[in-house]
Amino acid sequence: MTSFRKLVASTLTTDFRIACEIVRSNVGSLKPHEVLVKARYAGINATDINYTAGRYTKPGTPLPLDAGLEGVGEIVDVGQEVPSSMIGKPVGYLWNGAFAEYVKLPAKFCLPLPSVKPEYVGLLVSGMTASMCLQQSGRIQKGEAVFISAAAGGFGHLAVQLAKLHGCHVIGTCSSQQKTEYLKSLGCDHVINYVTEDLNEVLKKSYPKGIDVFIESVGGDVFNACVNRLATNGRLVVLGYIGSYHSQAGIDRSHRNATLMTKLLLKSATVSGFFLLNHPQEYKNHLPRLVELADQGKLQVKIDQTDDQGKPFVGLESVYDAVDYLYSRKSQGKVVVDLTNSNSKL
Ligand SMILES: NC(=O)c1ccc[n+]([C@@H]2O[C@H](COP(=O)([O-])OP(=O)(O)OC[C@H]3O[C@@H](n4cnc5c(N)ncnc54)[C@H](OP(=O)(O)O)[C@@H]3O)[C@@H](O)[C@H]2O)c1
Repeated sequence: MTSFRKLVASTLTTDFRIACEIVRSNVGSLKPHEVLVKARYAGINATDINYTAGRYTKPGTPLPLDAGLEGVGEIVDVGQEVPSSMIGKPVGYLWNGAFAEYVKLPAKFCLPLPSVKPEYVGLLVSGMTASMCLQQSGRIQKGEAVFISAAAGGFGHLAVQLAKLHGCHVIGTCSSQQKTEYLKSLGCDHVINYVTEDLNEVLKKSYPKGIDVFIESVGGDVFNACVNRLATNGRLVVLGYIGSYHSQAGIDRSHRNATLMTKLLLKSATVSGFFLLNHPQEYKNHLPRLVELADQGKLQVKIDQTDDQGKPFVGLESVYDAVDYLYSRKSQGKVVVDLTNSNSKL
């Protein structure tokens, strides 16, 4: 019998190690519209722990949940309605169950890629979010000041570069000297280490007229500073609030206080949300451009495949360490696990 290993969430909690276990699964037969992908790389996302806490599924959804949100691999089998020419094609996918050695999914959800390489994982959730939220929600214009929080992370480092490519003045935050140097090397115009500097004060002093576009994903004090420093007609895109993801509520209640609305009203400014999964129709527009930029060397996709001791993330077991590593605040660029060391019996 053909089987493979996958990570499933059997207990709903933000503690990824408690939530998830590795189980063996049978491939079974493919439905006519499905393909079987041999997974090569899986992306780690801050929101993986929201998923394993059941925040993406309706209450009462049967457990276990297949974990992992994105990956890259090669199609190795197709259902009856899928052309056999698809076999061997490299693809990316945003699909629940990406932490697995094999992924079965409808062919229509496969995003064609030129080859299988870890950089393309970085362009899926992180890259497409950066591309879409800057354009559609941030509506960035050449010459505008654009602020990106968690700027050295999987999403952030790509957002910084895309905003620079658009001709914006880019301000990025991070929490260490090493990341500060890295962001400078990417061309980030103003790097703020918000651990050693007072974010609100630095923004107030450096940008007395305010910031045109905030892409904010940390929450708490960072979010409050962004609200305070919005320019007239500014746009604040709430992308996430990682600072609260480990808490029971998962919500920073300061997002709801009334002073926020007053500040927005007086400035005719807008706070809008952005959630990548609401825009599947856009994937085919944004991913090819990102791939082209990356392949031309205009967009660096930094892949972080080892922990801070240099231990590589190889094999399904290392997903646990990779999730911890993302939350250790030491990662730079996109954290990716190499799924090569497969114990699969396929
Ligand atoms: N809405 C969407 O569709 C969408 C899509 C992708 C990502 N996002 C959001 O974007 C943010 C970044 O996600 P990512 O997957 O790309 O992760 P990431 O940025 O690669 O890694 C997390 C980074 O967040 C920063 N951070 C700030 N406060 C933190 C805290 N309390 N605990 C841990 N890290 C903290 C750390 O950088 P510093 O310490 O240097 O600040 C850390 O390195 C998250 O809020 C995520 O939900 C949203």
